[in-house]
Amino acid sequence: MSSFYVTTPIYYVNAAPHLGHAYTTIAVDALARHHRQRGEDVFFLTGTDEHGEPVADAAHALGVEPQELADRNAERFKALVPLLGAANDFFIRTTDSEHMAKVQEVLTRVRENGYVYEGTYEGWYCPRCADFKAENEIDEGNRCPIHHIELTREQEDSYFFKLSSFQEPLERLYAEQETWITPRTRYNEALSFIRSGLRDVPLTRHKLTWGVPVPWNEEHVFYVWFDALLNYYSALSYARPGEDLTGEFWPASYHVIAKDILRFHAIYWPALLMAAELELPERIFVHGYLLMDGEKMSKSLGNVLDPFAVIERFGADALRFYLLRDVPFGQDGSVSTASFEQRYESELANDLGNLASRTLAMIVRYRDGVVPASEMDPVLIPDFDGLTARVEELIGRAELTLALEEIWQRVRRLNRYVEEQAPWQLAKVQSRASDLDRALRTLAEGLRVVAVLLWPYLPASSERLLDALGANDLSLAGATLGAGKIERVRKIESLFPKSA
Ligand code: MSP
Repeated sequence: MSSFYVTTPIYYVNAAPHLGHAYTTIAVDALARHHRQRGEDVFFLTGTDEHGEPVADAAHALGVEPQELADRNAERFKALVPLLGAANDFFIRTTDSEHMAKVQEVLTRVRENGYVYEGTYEGWYCPRCADFKAENEIDEGNRCPIHHIELTREQEDSYFFKLSSFQEPLERLYAEQETWITPRTRYNEALSFIRSGLRDVPLTRHKLTWGVPVPWNEEHVFYVWFDALLNYYSALSYARPGEDLTGEFWPASYHVIAKDILRFHAIYWPALLMAAELELPERIFVHGYLLMDGEKMSKSLGNVLDPFAVIERFGADALRFYLLRDVPFGQDGSVSTASFEQRYESELANDLGNLASRTLAMIVRYRDGVVPASEMDPVLIPDFDGLTARVEELIGRAELTLALEEIWQRVRRLNRYVEEQAPWQLAKVQSRASDLDRALRTLAEGLRVVAVLLWPYLPASSERLLDALGANDLSLAGATLGAGKIERVRKIESLFPKSA
């Protein structure tokens, strides 16, 4: 069985989760579910990034120990995952002792391989990004281009990672694997950063104590980004007590991130893995920002939409659908309550909700809930032909929004089919019984196919629908019109009540 290992970034615990974090987790969950439907052995990792300045500073401001703040907020991130309807296989915390030991082990190997030296770092630093900024990345007034706060001038003894040694290997990687980073704009951005010349970067911090201790000099802790990136690798070694899943799942199939952390994943990460003689992940997918009033939503800017509140009112499926449908995956997109409500009403309640309740109600009314044994209507066959393969191809490239559009066209097609066939008219004419049979069976099958394909997006609603259809096969292999064995259906309460 082929394996599929997919990850979200691990989120900083300096504040509570917001919709931006929920977005990535939802997208990765959709990818994971799709690959489960292919019959692959899937491992979905998410978690929290707990060391470094962002967390130490936030704890200090609140007058608590970093560990206390980390414990408190890690719980909130952990609790958010199932609330989003997401099913991860493990939740990593970088304060886990197993992770910390693995970081020490791998980075010691990097040193033994000759990629670490002692030096002094001097330059601009953003404590919110935990990032050393090059001169050309700084906004006017020595400000961080992301957080708009003033940067600090840092001078500190550090051990350095010889990133510059990987100039050529990285250029080769990018030349050989043009889809290593998608979308293409992000690939180009990373490549031009590499071509501008790689400089060595600090691997350790001397001033900071909140981090993984450096084994060869305990006055230092590892720079939080190296600690954090290694979560993708370390998790596999202890996610299942007594088992090491590294052999089965490493290298990762897909890391999903937003563009704010592109450089770390596109440059530092492969260089670090090469330095440690580990295999590189197969692909990195970079999505855009959820914007509110044109600014990236972020804890530190304070313009956040609370995912907990949205879910409580409309349910997780509605949120998942909205984010993956309204914001083209890979691009930036504005989110608002108004556009959320619009999608909810017109697409979830009207398109899908009505299709489901009408179809089921008609089968119950005209055929006592028994789905007639009939052929598929030839009129609809071409519309569904190749659909599943197309969805697989698109989601295989993380094109979640495009795949959803393909499916949604079929939802709309089925609604038009109801209008064209007007089963309520057919039901009045005895001689048209077999036409009615065919229309009802075709509708039940069409509904089943879209429900299976929608499972990654709307897991709870799809399951309810499939349950009402008496069809519980979620596999893509069965997602062909006419391949189902539906016998008897039940009516359901509306899937997306308008009064929500
Ligand atoms: N801890 C680092 C990541 C380490 S990964 C080895 C970090 N954490 S973070 O809490 O700031 O999360 C950043 C990630 O959260 C983004 O890359 C993205 O996945 C998600 N998002 C946060 N805000 C977002 C938006 N406004 N829009 C889209 N994604 C958002 O960086």
